[in-house]
Amino acid sequence: MELMLDTANLAQIERGLATYPISGVTTNPTIIKAEGGVDFFPHMQKIRELIGENRSLHVQVVSTEYASILAEAEKVLSLLGPSTYIKIPVTEQGLQAIRILSAKGVNVTATAIYTTLQGILAMLSGARYLAVYYNRMLNIDIDAAKVIKELSSLLWANSTSCQVLAASFKNISEITTAYANGASCCTVPYSLLSTGLSMPSITKAVHDFSTNWEEVYGKRTLLD
Ligand code: E4P
Repeated sequence: MELMLDTANLAQIERGLATYPISGVTTNPTIIKAEGGVDFFPHMQKIRELIGENRSLHVQVVSTEYASILAEAEKVLSLLGPSTYIKIPVTEQGLQAIRILSAKGVNVTATAIYTTLQGILAMLSGARYLAVYYNRMLNIDIDAAKVIKELSSLLWANSTSCQVLAASFKNISEITTAYANGASCCTVPYSLLSTGLSMPSITKAVHDFSTNWEEVYGKRTLLD
């Protein structure tokens, strides 16, 4: 199983890496927009430096026509390194680019996946990850858990190295449901991870342990 950060915010990435078992960072044009007009390639290079070579960096193309997608991919790979995952939406044009790049050995993350069919086509075209849009699917009454379950079973049955990378999360329950339905990876905003560990019941339990210890021993640590 893997957990990735769905952000391009450098402070969040630094905090996230220090705290959580993060195996990669995913971005898209909307996530980049939230950083307020940063110089794109230098910013992505900073993310690469922060996460190191052992974690994956997923960078989304902006062009929608396959020849331009290929040109963008080439630029990303030359500036950010050949191990960078190129995120490409699963449209007809995107699928052509996924097939061509994958055949050349480029790491591709197929994205904007709302249906099992999109996932199957991306997998057959050589994508390494299938970014399935959990919350966006729920918003249009698509059963996201079912799609993840179907794709995960198909990937397992076909012994492929392609993995479901569940994405587009707005609450903690969506994340755990995605994992429970077979997603081997989820990419999650930093704020959701933080929320998951700062709920009042957790804080109260920790506070009670500290005060009970202090009442008996007059200090709040095991140290002298
Ligand atoms: C990640 O790969 C996706 O692009 C991202 O999770 C989409 O999130 P959103 O639905 O909040 O835009």
